[in-house]
Amino acid sequence: MFNIFSRKRERQPLFYKTDIHCHILPGIDDGSPDVDTSVRLVNRMAQWGLERIIASPHVTYGTFPNTKETVTPALTSLTDRLTAEGVTTPAISHSAEYRIDDLFLDHLAKNELMMLPMQYLLIENSFMQEPWNLDRLVFDLQVKGYRPILAHPERYSYYYKRQDRYRTLHDAGLLFQCNVLSLAGAYGPAEKRMAEQLIKDGMVDFLGTDLHRESHADAIDAYLASKDYLKHRDALQGRLLNDTL
Ligand SMILES: [Fe+2]
Repeated sequence: MFNIFSRKRERQPLFYKTDIHCHILPGIDDGSPDVDTSVRLVNRMAQWGLERIIASPHVTYGTFPNTKETVTPALTSLTDRLTAEGVTTPAISHSAEYRIDDLFLDHLAKNELMMLPMQYLLIENSFMQEPWNLDRLVFDLQVKGYRPILAHPERYSYYYKRQDRYRTLHDAGLLFQCNVLSLAGAYGPAEKRMAEQLIKDGMVDFLGTDLHRESHADAIDAYLASKDYLKHRDALQGRLLNDTL
C-alpha cells in the first residue's frame, strides 16, 4: 500500500572496508567479462566505502582452472587501467575461491594455493552435496597452517534440514563468510533466512559481496538503503574479521 509518510531511505556505506570475495577480474571466470565492466564494478564498490578489494576468481576443475598464470595478467590489466584513470582507492589484490574438488586437492598437494593474507583460504562446497571428506579436509588444512573460510554457507540448501552441520563445522575451525547478496535477498528468501540465522547464532565471521555483475551491484545498492541492512549491521558490527587481514 502506498504510504504518504514513507520516505526514500538514504543508502548507507558498508560498515567494513575490505571485501574478500568478488569476481571483478576481467575475463577469467563467470564474473566481469572485460576491463570496462571491471572498472564500473570497482567504482560501485568504492561508493559503498570499500577501500580494499581482494578479488577471488573461481578455481574449479573443468570450467575455471585458474592459476597465478591466468589471474596475474587479469589483475594487472585492471590495475593498469585504474592507475591510468587516477583511481587509487580501493586497492585491489587477489586470492581465489576454491571449489573443493580434485583440482583443489592437486594445488593443495603442490602448495600452489592463492591465499588470502594471514594464511586464510577461501573455499566453497559444491551446490549439489557436501564434499564427502569435508571434516577431514578442514582438519588437514588447519594442521598444514591454513585458516579455511567457507564461502556462502547459507547458499548450500542441503544444510537447511541438517543445520547442526553448521555448528559442527564452525566448531571444528571452519570460518564462515556470508554473502551480502544473500542478506539482500538476491538469491531468494531461503538464503536470506539462513544468513540471518547464522548471524543470530554468532557464526558469521566474514561478509563478502560475491559481486559478479552490475545487477548484483544494483541489488546491493538497494539493500544498503533498506531497514534490513541497518538491522544486520547492528548485529554484526565489531564481530567481522574482514578488516583484520
Ligand atoms: Fe564467489
